[in-house]
Amino acid sequence: MTHSHERGNIDDAVRTCTRCPLAETRTTAVPGEGPIPARILFIGEAPGRNEDAQGRPFVGRAGKILDDLLAGIGVARGEVFITNIVKCRPPGNRDPTPAEIEACRPYLERQIALIRPEVIVTLGRFAMHWVLESHGVKPGPISEMHGKVVTIQWSGGERTVVPVYHPAATIYRPAFREVLAADFGTIREVIGDCCAGGGD
Ligand code: URA
Ligand code: SF4
Repeated sequence: MTHSHERGNIDDAVRTCTRCPLAETRTTAVPGEGPIPARILFIGEAPGRNEDAQGRPFVGRAGKILDDLLAGIGVARGEVFITNIVKCRPPGNRDPTPAEIEACRPYLERQIALIRPEVIVTLGRFAMHWVLESHGVKPGPISEMHGKVVTIQWSGGERTVVPVYHPAATIYRPAFREVLAADFGTIREVIGDCCAGGGD
């Protein structure tokens, strides 16, 4: 099966999915987007209002901040894959429940197998906890973990995880912007000189 075929299958399955109650309140599911394979995968928490309306990840205010942070390290948004732990918006942007995360997990697993990222950047506390804890790493608080480089085994390969603060955190705490920019500098160092393409 070709990559584009499997990507289409995942996207179609997500868009019509009724595996958890978020299906009842979403407008549009958000599978994620980016090249396959991709050297860098960003994982956020869940779609927000704008994402739910458009069916694309990180298109609201947090998305603009993410775009700026990427530009700051010379990486185009089109070079990275961007998705979320859960693919449908929780009502009122509440945290997804453990049952919803578990129901949605197969989609992220299939995406990882396809994308084969070297570097996984978790956006925010929530994605950090889920990604690290489900791979046997008990993370400290994000205030200590952000910008650290952690290696895990996931989907048949070694993946470097860099937890960072959620871009939306900088809307209310402007000082986080510099911290995030510095952590994106770490991402830049980890990926080296080039960006897209590659894989395992
Ligand atoms: N916040 C997230 O965690 N994900 C999105 O897609 C948008 C905002
Ligand atoms: Fe399906 Fe995931 Fe959406 Fe729940 S959040 S309905 S599991 S795609």
